[in-house]
Amino acid sequence: MDVFRVVPLDELDEGRAHRVVLENQPILLTRIAGEPHAVSDVCPHNGASLSDGVIKDGCVTCPSHLWRFSLHDGERQGRSDVRIQVYGTRLTGDGWVEVEVPPAPVERSLREILLDHARQGSLPTP
Ligand code: FES
Repeated sequence: MDVFRVVPLDELDEGRAHRVVLENQPILLTRIAGEPHAVSDVCPHNGASLSDGVIKDGCVTCPSHLWRFSLHDGERQGRSDVRIQVYGTRLTGDGWVEVEVPPAPVERSLREILLDHARQGSLPTP
């Protein structure tokens, strides 16, 4: 887990998205009730940037098809089986927001994915 010093808290507007890319991961950073929150900026439905959506009542609404996600736990409202990643945040003594980011997932080729399935005996059927 890497920790990135991102922005002074007083430059993070309440309820407005601040988009950053850390470890190749697009992240929506915002401030709610004075506290920094960070979630994935990629909508799991169709990949829209949640930073272009509306932040209200502790949730962000995707601009494309209006799915709504909690900025506290990442859960899609009304569908607890769908969620976006939530990143840990903390405030430094000098007022900066730090974000904890796990290493980016390793990208694998289709060949590697199919070989893994073949080794596990779980090749998808047509
Ligand atoms: S892309 Fe976000 S709801 Fe469809």
